[in-house]
Amino acid sequence: MTRGSVCEVLDNEHLRKRFYLLRLLAPSVAETCRPGQFVMLRSPVPAWPYLNRPFSIYASDGDSAIEIVYKVVGRATALMAEMARGDKVDVIGPLGTAFSPVDDCSHMIAVAGGIGMPPLGFYCRRYAGACESMTLVIGAKTAAELLVPVGLMAEGVEILSLTEDGSKGTRGLATDGLTKMLQATGINPSRARIAACGPKQMLGEVHRIAEAAGIACEVSVEEIMACGVGACMSCAVPAAGGGYIHACKDGPAIKASDIDFERWLES
Ligand SMILES: Cc1cc2nc3c(=O)[nH]c(=O)nc-3n(C[C@H](O)[C@H](O)[C@H](O)COP(=O)(O)OP(=O)(O)OC[C@H]3O[C@@H](n4cnc5c(N)ncnc54)[C@H](O)[C@@H]3O)c2cc1C
Ligand code: FES
Repeated sequence: MTRGSVCEVLDNEHLRKRFYLLRLLAPSVAETCRPGQFVMLRSPVPAWPYLNRPFSIYASDGDSAIEIVYKVVGRATALMAEMARGDKVDVIGPLGTAFSPVDDCSHMIAVAGGIGMPPLGFYCRRYAGACESMTLVIGAKTAAELLVPVGLMAEGVEILSLTEDGSKGTRGLATDGLTKMLQATGINPSRARIAACGPKQMLGEVHRIAEAAGIACEVSVEEIMACGVGACMSCAVPAAGGGYIHACKDGPAIKASDIDFERWLES
């Protein structure tokens, strides 16, 4: 069973606008975590809300430290933005199901929408050498919201950036980038794979495109979570064939074909 631990803040870098990179001394997470997994965080400050908050792991040095990239959207994330080196934070994790490891793959395509980038940054860094080529398609509303992981290109990952207003990269949605890429490159579907994280509408569209192209696809479902360990059903996502999956336990990373997107997108 995964236990929580009190971890020290090593750094809390303001990236831009409402985005920050939190570096934590968390050896038990760093040693075992895999791309797609997350941690539940809680600061001991009295103003922290009742529940812990889930964040994907963006990077791990495999030994002592992990990184989280987060956007300030409400009370907990505003309090996180005030954290400084030496502060303490409760961390439970690593939690959830990771993306499947990449092996024997000709072309790996990761598709990130907005703050869906962090788990895929970790994914690309971990598996860049495991397939013949890897592309990270990143979409955001504007240039200010476009988060491009540092150092990935040097590791051989091709990066395709898109913004809805055209302020950086190509104008359009992440899914437009995916479609154009599949049209332009002679990809062998049976040896290609897609991994995606972002808003559920985007995940539904990625699933549709992947299915039409005959490419295996996994998505990370970041439903609002209360417990993070399968005990409360706050993270229920309609399952293909009926019933529900727990995004926190059966996911966040899950085969796209295991989700009933029609019911999920209606909810
Ligand atoms: C598995 C998982 C991984 C995540 N990884 C990251 C990450 O790497 N970086 C990051 O910035 N955020 C991530 N999130 C979202 C993050 O947990 C929320 O932004 C955070 O809990 C908000 O807390 P708050 O108190 O600041 O805001 P709240 O006051 O709780 O929420 C502010 C607003 O954001 C909405 N919101 C909160 N959580 C979500 C969610 N999961 N999906 C859609 N809307 C939501 C609320 O409905 C509300 O409108 C992840 C969520 C999950 C489930
Ligand atoms: S968050 Fe409680 S069951 Fe998933």
